[in-house]
Amino acid sequence: MARPVLEVRGLSKHFGGLEAVKDLSFDVDEGQIVGLIGPNGAGKTTVFAMLSGFLRPDAGEVGFRGCAITGLPPHRVNALGLARTFQIVRPFLHLSVLRNVTVGALGRQPRPREAERQATAILEEVGLATKREQPAGSLTLAERKRLELARALATQPVLLLLDEVMAGLGAAETERIVELVRRINRRGIAILLIEHVMRAVMSLSERLVVLNYGERIAEGRPEAVAGDPRVIEAYLGEGDAGAAPA
Ligand SMILES: Nc1ncnc2c1ncn2[C@@H]1O[C@H](COP(=O)(O)OP(=O)(O)OP(=O)(O)O)[C@@H](O)[C@H]1O
Ligand SMILES: [Mg+2]
Repeated sequence: MARPVLEVRGLSKHFGGLEAVKDLSFDVDEGQIVGLIGPNGAGKTTVFAMLSGFLRPDAGEVGFRGCAITGLPPHRVNALGLARTFQIVRPFLHLSVLRNVTVGALGRQPRPREAERQATAILEEVGLATKREQPAGSLTLAERKRLELARALATQPVLLLLDEVMAGLGAAETERIVELVRRINRRGIAILLIEHVMRAVMSLSERLVVLNYGERIAEGRPEAVAGDPRVIEAYLGEGDAGAAPA
């Protein structure tokens, strides 16, 4: 039996009168890919911010590899093996691509030479090796998404939280990122994936958790969730039928 690497229990967060996340519970098992989906504003990024220590929950508990991490600051959470990417990518624009990834590696590997060697290998893996000396600010959107992934990987995570790493990409580039996510997962890294590109998230995820107005409205295997009337209704309300899982 797979053990949970992440255990979320009763997580809640409000912003003023808005309940962005309400009493949310779910697990991610070791080595699993789980998709976190839902219409715009459903609370997905807020969940990531709470899991990674950037936002303190109003209520609830987060367990990671058997430890309670609720309320720990981001660097402590990251040191335990949980890394995230940001929906709005934010590399150090003036630093080279290699420097950006080396900074991530230095958290685990204090020897600069070794950190740079690891960063170089990761850039190879994500397909950015030829861009290593360029400033991050010169990259295309697709390349910045890869850089964001590389920076997270450099911290040697056990669980990787990916926030819309395919948004705004063309079909071919999306397919390449799907393959990259699969490869990363095959190395044994569990992945929690926020994604609006339904074909991608459905094909990658073993399980889906669906949020709507901060609440979990469905959870299960992608095929079952796609046919769930509550899920279809939530997406129809968005006026973006193309984004619906069915
Ligand atoms: N720091 C904040 N202060 C006030 N309201 C916020 C804050 N962050 C998020 N919200 C609100 O909380 C709700 C959930 O936002 P969140 O960004 O988590 O949604 P999301 O599911 O990631 O949406 P999207 O798919 O558009 O990225 C939204 O109504 C948003 O406007
Ligand atoms: Mg978001």
